[in-house]
Amino acid sequence: MNGKVCAIGGVCYYEGGLPEKGLIENGHVICLWHGMAFDLCGGKDVCMPQFGVEAFVLVVRKDSA
Ligand code: FES
Repeated sequence: MNGKVCAIGGVCYYEGGLPEKGLIENGHVICLWHGMAFDLCGGKDVCMPQFGVEAFVLVVRKDSA
């Protein structure tokens, strides 16, 4: 997203929905079970940022071979 490679966990904290099967809109992924939205590059719940899903830092290296 915007030149960054982001990854978040695949299990929603709320009731175990699967954000990976959700919708992506405006930098958020929406879990379809109850509509919670998470920041794609941080995993925080948009409405309650004290909650969220796992977020991972990814490093992309150019293969020089
Ligand atoms: S399980 Fe994700 S919003 Fe309900």
